[in-house]
Amino acid sequence: MYWEKEIETLDRKSLEKLQVDRLTGTLGQAVKSSYYGRISEITDFVESGIKSIEQISELPFTTKEDLRNNFPWGFLTTGKKEVIRLHSSSGTTGNPIVVYHNRHDINSWANLMARSLFAAGVRDTDVFQNICGYGLFTGGLGFQYGIEKLGCLSIPAGAGNSLRQIKLMRDFGTTVVHAIPSYLGRLYDVFKAEGLDPRKDTNLHTFVVGAEPHTEEHRQRIEEMFGVKAYNSFGLSEMNGPGVAFECKEQNGLHIWEDAYIVEIIDPKTLLPVADGEIGELVMTTLDRQAMPLIRYRTRDLTRFLPDQCECGRTHRRIDRISGRTDDMIIIKGCNIFPMQIEKVIMKLSEVGDDYRIILETVDSQDVIIVEVEVKKDWFSGDTTFFDKLKKRLTHLIRDEVLVSPVVKLVEPGSIPKSEGKAVRVFDCRKK
Ligand code: COA
Ligand code: AMP
Ligand code: ZN
Repeated sequence: MYWEKEIETLDRKSLEKLQVDRLTGTLGQAVKSSYYGRISEITDFVESGIKSIEQISELPFTTKEDLRNNFPWGFLTTGKKEVIRLHSSSGTTGNPIVVYHNRHDINSWANLMARSLFAAGVRDTDVFQNICGYGLFTGGLGFQYGIEKLGCLSIPAGAGNSLRQIKLMRDFGTTVVHAIPSYLGRLYDVFKAEGLDPRKDTNLHTFVVGAEPHTEEHRQRIEEMFGVKAYNSFGLSEMNGPGVAFECKEQNGLHIWEDAYIVEIIDPKTLLPVADGEIGELVMTTLDRQAMPLIRYRTRDLTRFLPDQCECGRTHRRIDRISGRTDDMIIIKGCNIFPMQIEKVIMKLSEVGDDYRIILETVDSQDVIIVEVEVKKDWFSGDTTFFDKLKKRLTHLIRDEVLVSPVVKLVEPGSIPKSEGKAVRVFDCRKK
């Protein structure tokens, strides 16, 4: 069963031809932006035309830095009037990453979402609870539009308040949940504390989990705890958000939608394609986006192509679950954080020294971010009021910057162990 049988099962030759046609259109659209309009390798192709998909390798990459450096409008190809929504990364210092969508883009994203959910077995008879941040996070509205397109009864629950989540599930007979995997341990604990067993006391049959790395073992634990099937959902805001790659009922890797994206996997050092099946950095080109097409975007996510066609009949290739990143971005509670964001906040305060470290831990099934900060010698006294105030101030500032509440620990100058060579700032001790 398919959402769009013809496109999902298109033979590879026709799929490639479709990609070439759409790439031609995408380049024509991209050069309307001030950024791509001044890149001669792209404007030349618009004149000469793309003849084969291999020619993608002659185009330049686009990076997060390019997006930041051309903030706010450098990648926009249309008038502002045509844009109907933007999504943006967190951060109050420096330029955030912003992605713009016109009506076509939102419709096409909703369709990819509906297609993805349908592939995982979600149907219009389901009651779908989306336990994910709305607002500027793409997992909120991204899923919402897809669920509605599919025709499920949607419960836009948002993140947080586990007791209420459980009540919603029981009141309305939720059958499908979308949430980040690390939150589900906490949700299960709250079920237990209420004397409830999700296997018996709910109608849940399917979970959609994503937005952060997780292992096959973690998936299995979730499936056992809740008595559901859990399907991996991958996406990133620069490529819309969720709906980029999704597991089908076979649960054997994620189909990446090749009518909407050209997908490459490169060696991050040489920038050349890796051999088939080897792990490398995922690079993506949008094929169906008008307001902000992106060409050869370096996602920084590490994965590999999986061999063989899937039993489900879909011809779009599958990627393996994401195994890491080529930059220092960390994801906690579904929020993306660059250590530099925290450093910038800390360094604003004159009472604080130069050393800090970030420790990620799992406490009572919940991930926490601990920020240890050295206080300057002159300020390090036994004055508890001063310490409390400083801690509060830092907690607020960091929370505003990264959207997660940290546990701030103020420590004596010189007490943070020095690492040899480049300072190691992040210690990830979370239960995987
Ligand atoms: N999803 C859903 N609920 C979450 C969560 C997550 N990722 N992370 C924590 N929570 C819950 C906690 O369990 C707690 O509720 P409970 O005590 O009733 O169980 C509540 O949110 C607050 O948790 P706390 O750890 O005190 O919050 P915080 O101040 O650090 O901020 C969030 C937490 C949830 C508000 C913030 O991390 C967030 O918005 N995360 C969602 C991000 C997201 O959806 N990303 C996906 C993008 S596609
Ligand atoms: P955002 O742009 O906030 O949606 O974050 C996107 C990033 O989250 C991706 O680039 C990945 O690093 C990570 N991510 C999203 N989905 C998954 C997933 N299913 N598995 C692992 N990492 C994921
Ligand atoms: Zn499949």
